[in-house]
Amino acid sequence: MKKGILPLVIGNWKMNPQSVALAIRMVTDFKKKTQGIKDVELVIAPPLVHLDAVRKVHNGSDTFHLGVQNVHPAKLGAYTGEVSIPMCNDLGVTYFIVGHSERRALGETDAFIHEKVLAVLKAGYTCIVCVGESVRDHHGHYLSHVETQVRRALAEVTKSKLGQVVISYEPVWAIGTGKNATADDIHEMKLFIEKIISDLYGRNLAQKVRIIYGGSVSEKNAEELHRDGMMDGFLVGGASLHIDEFVAIVKAVRNV
Ligand code: PGA
Repeated sequence: MKKGILPLVIGNWKMNPQSVALAIRMVTDFKKKTQGIKDVELVIAPPLVHLDAVRKVHNGSDTFHLGVQNVHPAKLGAYTGEVSIPMCNDLGVTYFIVGHSERRALGETDAFIHEKVLAVLKAGYTCIVCVGESVRDHHGHYLSHVETQVRRALAEVTKSKLGQVVISYEPVWAIGTGKNATADDIHEMKLFIEKIISDLYGRNLAQKVRIIYGGSVSEKNAEELHRDGMMDGFLVGGASLHIDEFVAIVKAVRNV
């Protein structure tokens, strides 16, 4: 983990839960059970239709922050079905996930993701950029795949904005499958991504970028993955819907 920077744990609720009432219940429980935690930065990214209700429970909490799972780079306009950064911020959102593989699978390109990165950073918020390979081949092509995604996302990002960037390494084969990457895989990828960022900005500045892991993180593997993978936190999908398990993951990160 990087010195002087808090680890980050994000709950990506994806298209869950089914009702506003359930979302309120979940976030109320989360808020209660994480009260007083100051040594881990916590984010909940609910579906947009639940955001206002979640915000009301959040109510200016200093324990966790509000995030969204996707955003459009334009401020306003004729973009059916989309929402903008200022709209999200109006509801208290300061963390923006972009480039999730489930969105890339729907057709989002590196170029579009890059526009989103620049827009989020320009607006002054934290941008969590998801990268990751679909398969791990024996020739190391997965490394160049991840490198291309990182370089394209960071193109034109100035040094002064680097501290707002988080890279989330999420191998597609590990997402929602119960097959997490091993701590060794994760550590190797962390060093690899750090090297790419160091080549672009220098070693010192590269330290400002948190590199987190996502893909079947659970209460069973969190402590080992965090300790031995030496990541700066987690992006948690499925397990973040079970508040006790999600809180156990947060505690595992604190314990390391
Ligand atoms: P998962 O999802 O924890 O359910 O594997 C992670 C993610 O997609 O962010």
